[in-house]
Amino acid sequence: MNEESLAKLRQRNLDSAGDWKRYAEHRRHCTRLILEAAPLDAPRLCLLGAGNCNDVELTAIAKRFREIHLIDFDKDAVQQGLKRQFSGLQGKILIHAPVDLDAEDVASQLSSLGKFDVVASLCVLSQLIDAIPEEQKNKEEGLPLVRQIRRRHLELLASLAGPEGSIAIANEAVSSDSEPSVKTCEDPMLGPLLVQLALEQKLFMGLNPAVVAGELQALAPTHALSTTPPWKWDFGPRTYAVCGHTLTRQA
Ligand SMILES: C[S@@+](CC[C@H](N)C(=O)[O-])C[C@H]1O[C@@H](n2cnc3c(N)ncnc32)[C@H](O)[C@@H]1O
Repeated sequence: MNEESLAKLRQRNLDSAGDWKRYAEHRRHCTRLILEAAPLDAPRLCLLGAGNCNDVELTAIAKRFREIHLIDFDKDAVQQGLKRQFSGLQGKILIHAPVDLDAEDVASQLSSLGKFDVVASLCVLSQLIDAIPEEQKNKEEGLPLVRQIRRRHLELLASLAGPEGSIAIANEAVSSDSEPSVKTCEDPMLGPLLVQLALEQKLFMGLNPAVVAGELQALAPTHALSTTPPWKWDFGPRTYAVCGHTLTRQA
């Protein structure tokens, strides 16, 4: 990761560190997504892009999992996030940082951690895509690069989950910066709005939920894929429309 991307990542985490209250609704959806992906006996969770941990209710998660592995580039954000939220259960939590989730060899770097019952990725892929230099994003190589980053990230999730584990992933599809109606529309209208924006090719590049779902399913065709209705993430300066997917082993 270059210096500029690293500085941007740290600043974003610092800017949103105090947003626990604002994230309440988003956190409820993300926490539920992870719990829905978890079989009853699910000892090990891996959470990619844990950052400030504002988007997961760790106390609820810790009741289900025996070990929780938090992975991020920004170690300070994870340590401070844990301090803010958590007390008494630190023995369950292991922090792996700094880890560059976009490194070509990240899957082999993390392979020593073994396989996980659930691997979760909460709004990380957008940041991996956003780190593409601006001049490359707009050129012909932009789209193939975005696809490569998405494929590598989904393959990382699949490799950490192994054939038995489940995946939970949430991604921002669009924000109120480009589509102000994301902020104002009623929750039940968010799904139809995303379909319309997808047809008009106005979703974030590489983050069309239907495409993410298709690629996830292709990684494990016998697993059950489920996609949530979109929800709003109040980020302060803007509101995101977020969609979640779980990929679980068929009972
Ligand atoms: C939008 S945040 C996710 C929300 C975060 N869990 C929270 O509650 O604040 C994305 C996270 O991904 C991390 N991240 C972005 N790019 C990364 C990379 N290349 N390698 C590792 N972590 C990265 C950031 O540090 C940040 O913590």
